Amino acid sequence: MIRDEFYVLSNGVKIPKIAFGTWQVKPGDEAYNSVLTAIKLGYRHIDTALAYENEESVGKAIKDSKVKREELFITTKLPANIKGYEATKKAFKTSLNNLGLDYLDLYLIHAPWPWDNVGADCVSENIESWEAMIDLYNQGLIKAIGVSNFRENDINPLVKATGFMPHVDQIRFFLGNTQETTYNYCKKNNILIMAYSPLATGKLLEDKILNEVANKYNVTPAKICLRYCIERGTLPLPKSTHEERIKANLDIDFKLENEDIEKLNTIRNPELDRPYRS
Ligand code: A2P
Repeated sequence: MIRDEFYVLSNGVKIPKIAFGTWQVKPGDEAYNSVLTAIKLGYRHIDTALAYENEESVGKAIKDSKVKREELFITTKLPANIKGYEATKKAFKTSLNNLGLDYLDLYLIHAPWPWDNVGADCVSENIESWEAMIDLYNQGLIKAIGVSNFRENDINPLVKATGFMPHVDQIRFFLGNTQETTYNYCKKNNILIMAYSPLATGKLLEDKILNEVANKYNVTPAKICLRYCIERGTLPLPKSTHEERIKANLDIDFKLENEDIEKLNTIRNPELDRPYRS
């Protein structure tokens, strides 16, 4: 079953194949209840970020779930507007405190540039952040490190400066928006892709081709979206605040035939097709 399956990162760390996403989940009861529900239903990988402002609620749910720390995989992110060596270490400590943890499983640079300055040249600041993350990794405070919203040109300078390839790149990835250039670069370099917005934030579910394939397998379009991510070797992180959907999104133990994957690959949605979150 998908809830018991893992990918293995380039450093040998096992990472659950599906994560529960918490972007746009409000801090307080909403984040606490949905994360607690997700863990109770079997998710073992929770994805959050300092910028989501819900780490404390996520941490409380983790604690109250009573699931052993070593059975959980917790991912959080360095905010896109915080860069540099010392600033990274400070933000990391804040996240750890918010979550009530003494180590992280995965820590990501949230974006190559601040969200209010997309495309800005932050190469030297990103290298400093990357060096801080490598130090934290070497100290055993993080089990794996990576990036998010990075493309080849953003990753190469980090590797050139440090010799350290990210273990993960978390990118916007869903049917019709699969960023093939970044996808191929990551595959070639053994970087696991985490697929954020795997349901296109809910905006793709009416698609005709998607619904045809869903009818064939007698499952919902959402399940096809998630299974597609798995078939492409990526790690989806669906988000929901509704128990029945949180549960359904974990129930994707079927296999898509190649002809259907090819059919799904023809989905085009110019409105949604862009590399970064809106
Ligand atoms: P809600 O939180 O109200 O359940 P993504 O994971 O791509 O960011 O998509 C999240 C969006 O998709 C949210 O609006 C969420 O709504 C909705 N969603 C999550 N799971 C399902 C599902 N199984 N069926 C339909 N919509 C879903």
